[in-house]
Amino acid sequence: MTQEIHFVTGKGGVGKSFVAAALAFRQAKEGRRTLLVELGERSFYKDFFRLESIGYQPQPFQENLDLALWSGPESLREYAKHLIKVESLIKIFFENSVSRNLVEIAPALSELAILGKITSGIRKHGPPMPYEVIVVDAYATGHFLALLRAPLGMAEAVRFGPMGEQSRGIAEVLRNSQLTKVHVVTLPEEMPVKETEDLVRELVGDFHLGPSIVLNKMLDVPSEAPPSDAPVAFAEFVSTTRNRQNEMETRLRDLARPLSKVPLILSDDPMLAVRRAVEVLT
Ligand SMILES: Nc1ncnc2c1ncn2[C@@H]1O[C@H](COP(=O)(O)OP(=O)(O)O)[C@@H](O)[C@H]1O
Ligand SMILES: [Mg+2]
Repeated sequence: MTQEIHFVTGKGGVGKSFVAAALAFRQAKEGRRTLLVELGERSFYKDFFRLESIGYQPQPFQENLDLALWSGPESLREYAKHLIKVESLIKIFFENSVSRNLVEIAPALSELAILGKITSGIRKHGPPMPYEVIVVDAYATGHFLALLRAPLGMAEAVRFGPMGEQSRGIAEVLRNSQLTKVHVVTLPEEMPVKETEDLVRELVGDFHLGPSIVLNKMLDVPSEAPPSDAPVAFAEFVSTTRNRQNEMETRLRDLARPLSKVPLILSDDPMLAVRRAVEVLT
């Protein structure tokens, strides 16, 4: 079975989690077994979808769609378990304050464990990952780049042994654009668009990945001028918004990457909002 990994990144607050959910819903709807996984310690989906709990072990959520939350320490613990295989030794390792500090001062190790987990199905390493698609609601831009760099750095630092070998294996999966897809989410605003331009160039240049762009929270502005008797402030708001959205879209199109637009969806039902986004995502 082939497996695809879709990372969703972008500036903080632009709608990464929302768009990741829509991408995962779409894959599931098209009949692919899909895992939607959040990275970090705190879950967005638990509140958003009003779930009782969400944890490290994937749990069924919708037809063809499971949900999980993967934190660095938990991934590292599972990785250690796989290497050491003796639960009592792992307890000693993780409950020892020195190694706890090690976890804190060596974030690269956590990043590596998370990437190891994400790529474990493709590398046939660790517990089974019976999914055709893994959609990762990943970190914001800077942290995401650090995540991608972790296995390359580790592979250079540790050339031999299982650690070096695994880091190279992970890096290989991440550089393979057949297996690894990146979606950069942005708003039609100066700051996130600037960040998107820089990130896309870096992903293409340094990582040889061809990211897609999702332009989120677009306002549906009529293209014709407002009637001449419309209030001036309103007419001005419409034309400024239209001009800004057009300018941002042009800049993003100049990056020559696939681009989809998601409107600002005003609904108090999160499930309905995500389904609406699924319909417009190309
Ligand atoms: N297209 C959209 N229409 C309406 N609300 C949206 C849209 N995209 C995101 N949101 C909402 O905006 C907020 C921020 O989005 P979120 O996905 O949490 O951003 P991020 O993960 O990048 O921090 C959330 O409440 C989310 O539900
Ligand atoms: Mg989020």
